[in-house]
Amino acid sequence: MSLPLLDIRQLKASYGEAEVLHGIDLVVLQGEFVCIIGANTAGKSTILRSISRLVPKSSGTIRFGEVDLTKLASHDIPALGIAHVPEGRQIFPEMTVEENLLLGAFTARKATDLPVRIADVLDLFPRLRERYGQLAGTLSGGEQQMVAVGRALMLRPKLLLLDEPSHGLAPKVVEEMHEAFKIIHGRGTSILLVEQNVELALEVATRGYVLESGVVTLEGSAAELHANPAVVTAYLGL
Ligand SMILES: Nc1ncnc2c1ncn2[C@@H]1O[C@H](COP(=O)(O)OP(=O)(O)OP(=O)(O)O)[C@@H](O)[C@H]1O
Ligand SMILES: [Mg+2]
Repeated sequence: MSLPLLDIRQLKASYGEAEVLHGIDLVVLQGEFVCIIGANTAGKSTILRSISRLVPKSSGTIRFGEVDLTKLASHDIPALGIAHVPEGRQIFPEMTVEENLLLGAFTARKATDLPVRIADVLDLFPRLRERYGQLAGTLSGGEQQMVAVGRALMLRPKLLLLDEPSHGLAPKVVEEMHEAFKIIHGRGTSILLVEQNVELALEVATRGYVLESGVVTLEGSAAELHANPAVVTAYLGL
């Protein structure tokens, strides 16, 4: 049986006086591909931001292996092997693809295998090979998302946090992106994916949580959630 890699208990988070997560329990086992689905403003990004210690006010525990992340600051997180691809990508438009990728490896500056890591990213996203010396701001939305994911992979993370990576992308690019996620997962990286597009999320993830207004209302395997009438009515529009 797999052990929990990430174990979140009774997580509450607030912005100012407004509590937006009201006691979340969520687990990602070693090697799992888990999704969090839910509508606009449900608090999905806030869960990922809490893991990365980017939310100033939170309580509860977030265990990553033996470490309680709530005791740490955001700058401690990458070194543990957690990489976060934030909502809206947030790559550096005035830097080249190469420079953006190298930034992702900042905790591994002394690593002698940087060329190998770069080659792995370019094998996963061959389009970036053609764009390697180009300023990231001149790339298409899909290519910029590949840079954002590639930058996170430069860390060789144990856990990859993905915040709406398909948002605003053409269906063909979404498909390429999902193929890449399956490959990354297949190589042993655990993934926690946030998606507003429930159909897409349940296609790639193996297990999921439904988040509504800061509360987990349902959890189950992707197949169970896909067949659940409440999910079908609220999110799949069938
Ligand atoms: N920096 C902030 N300051 C104040 N309120 C915030 C901040 N960030 C988020 N919120 C509020 O917290 C709630 C949850 O936001 P969050 O971004 O986690 O939702 P989400 O599920 O990711 O939504 P979306 O699908 O639109 O990305 C929302 O009501 C939002 O307005
Ligand atoms: Mg969000």
